[in-house]
Amino acid sequence: MTNHMPTDEVTPGTRLSPGAVAPPKAIKDPLPDWNPRGPRVRRDPVSAYDEMRSRCPVARGASGAWTLFSHADVTAAALDHQAFSNAVSRHLQVPNGFDEATHTEFRALVDRYFTRKRMTALEPAVQRVAAELVSQFDVPGPIDAVEVGARFAVRAQSAWLGWPTDLEDELLQWMADNHAATRSRDGARTAEVAQRFDAIIRSLINARREAGDAAPDDVTTELLRDRVNGRELTDEEIVSILRNWTGGDLGSIALCTGVILTYLADHPHVQARLRSGVSDREFTAILDEILRIDDPFVANRRITTEPVTVGGRELAAGERVFLNWTSANRDPQMFGDPDAFDPLGNAPYNLVYGIGKHVCPGRLLATLELRALTRAVLETTAAIEPDPGRPRQRALPPVGGFAAAPLRLR
Ligand code: HEM
Repeated sequence: MTNHMPTDEVTPGTRLSPGAVAPPKAIKDPLPDWNPRGPRVRRDPVSAYDEMRSRCPVARGASGAWTLFSHADVTAAALDHQAFSNAVSRHLQVPNGFDEATHTEFRALVDRYFTRKRMTALEPAVQRVAAELVSQFDVPGPIDAVEVGARFAVRAQSAWLGWPTDLEDELLQWMADNHAATRSRDGARTAEVAQRFDAIIRSLINARREAGDAAPDDVTTELLRDRVNGRELTDEEIVSILRNWTGGDLGSIALCTGVILTYLADHPHVQARLRSGVSDREFTAILDEILRIDDPFVANRRITTEPVTVGGRELAAGERVFLNWTSANRDPQMFGDPDAFDPLGNAPYNLVYGIGKHVCPGRLLATLELRALTRAVLETTAAIEPDPGRPRQRALPPVGGFAAAPLRLR
């Protein structure tokens, strides 16, 4: 671990008489332990996180925010809802920005949309979306797995929410702009992109309100009429929920697709196993294990509500903390060799979808989407292969996985 403490050096020129006590020096901010967006991370994010986990598992960045890298610390923080609050943003984030009773109320509402029964009913529609998309590929021919994942995510989520297909290109453009704005760290640009998305959602909501009883019978209309704590949801709450279900998660599905198809191209024996007609359960366990090894959903934020000691470091109340899932999922203390592929053995400790009260409510939906798309690609091809002619590009923080994942289908 780097030394982050101020030294006890006496400033040159200070003269102390024997026995005198040095006047207290102004303590400057200690040096940061790492730079979360520095050249080392940009060169190879996953190995940079591996390095931090072994060198400095609780690390302070230049902004003052902490990152937890070990499986044990990330798990403990995610389960300690008292000391680690989710109220990290000044923007309304339903339900992830809430704690305690408010979180429980809204989380109960959200969970009703993701029950196993509903997801089983939705599965055939998602499979149709996947089959139709894949039928348009040239085989043999090149694909970019992240682009495929993005288009599929938009179509699958639109089918689920009842959104019109002619929104597809606008949503894809929005995803690209959102990604670029996040990377730029330009607050004004990010706000503009966020407002554009809110406008899309508000126009869908308004159309349904105007239609009254003639509004389509779909998830978006259901949400408009839903109630929490005996009252209707406000427009801001509806927009926040839908933003959460689409804005963030379309990108996650795209990144997950990039990681999964690339891994299958690089590991033909795993691809062969999936082609051999495994059960849904084994198929899902294999996808989860691929995502554990290279988790593109890098981190979530917390804020401490009281002083806490983590991994021997003292965090004051009010400190910003990142739980780095990508690193925790590769911790040798938990998984031995992080790259060793063991879907069933590692499943109980896999943190791809989080842990604790904020654990991902969309997990069943995400896995059914990823299963449907991967199956459709396997069924339409004899092989998914790397494309040595076109370079892969790693995505940069705050996301993981690939920005470009060129592959060849045969
Ligand atoms: C595609 C892969 C996905 C991954 C890897 C993923 C991962 C996660 C993780 C790690 C968390 C925990 C956050 C925390 O502890 O702060 C989370 C929360 C959440 N996810 Fe997902 N997610 C995915 C897809 C989805 C989908 C498809 C939806 C909904 C359509 C969704 C909705 C949510 C919501 C609403 C929360 C916040 C829950 C709360 O705070 O109670 N996710 N997700």
